Amino acid sequence: MAKPAHIAIIMDGNGRWAKARGLPRAAGHRAGVEALRETVRAAGDMRIPWLTVYAFSSENWSRPKSEVSDLMGLLKLFIRRDLAELHQNGVRVLVIGDRENLARDIKLLLEEAEVLTEANTSMNLVIAFNYGARDEIARAARKLVRAAREGRLAPDQVTPETFEAFLDTAAMPDPDLVIRTSGEQRLSNFLLWQTAYSELVFMPCYWPDFDRRKLVEAIEIFSARDRRFGGVTPQDVAL
Ligand code: IPE
Ligand code: IPE
Ligand code: MG
Repeated sequence: MAKPAHIAIIMDGNGRWAKARGLPRAAGHRAGVEALRETVRAAGDMRIPWLTVYAFSSENWSRPKSEVSDLMGLLKLFIRRDLAELHQNGVRVLVIGDRENLARDIKLLLEEAEVLTEANTSMNLVIAFNYGARDEIARAARKLVRAAREGRLAPDQVTPETFEAFLDTAAMPDPDLVIRTSGEQRLSNFLLWQTAYSELVFMPCYWPDFDRRKLVEAIEIFSARDRRFGGVTPQDVAL
């Protein structure tokens, strides 16, 4: 089977990785950024055109203030430190999630990353930040109602295709493969619309231990799956 064209990753287990080593959770998040760097490079080398990473969920605000601020700081650090290399490697950076309520410096950095890399075509790195699928769908519905009110869309024109155009992921392909590390087997409000037919691969390792080898392992599991999209596998039709 073909390689996945879009891999989405729920980078989970930083806290437990740190706890297992007697370190503060912040150390786990820092190690998580290293794993992200390696994963982006590996996906680029493997010519995976789309990689989406869940970096901060709309529910992660409920964590202690100091942890939220560590995570915000790490995003800034990642963009400041890695943007030049990403750009050099032809990576286009895109951001999904609600940007309205983010601090001004973060908003500006995210925008800078998107604008600088807009014309790049080697690979797309989508950062899900302050992202929640229910929030995304509700915001899409809000935009749709506005469009209808302004006469740009009639009720009969609302289809999965037209609706999709209002999501943050408009014009992005759906993920073929979703990987979640840390052994948890749930989506935690990640891309609920877009994962309708994604293959889900749950891996026991904590995110900071994820690397090139683990990415290859997940792709191999994906490749052995039989995707039917509600149909039947061609060789079974005659049976
Ligand atoms: C993932 O690791 C990072 C984010 C959610 C931002 P966690 O911080 O959730 O780590 P665990 O799940 O507590 O181990
Ligand atoms: C999902 O992980 C969010 C990110 C990886 C950014 P969480 O650790 O927040 O999810 P739950 O709380 O275990 O469901
Ligand atoms: Mg977690």
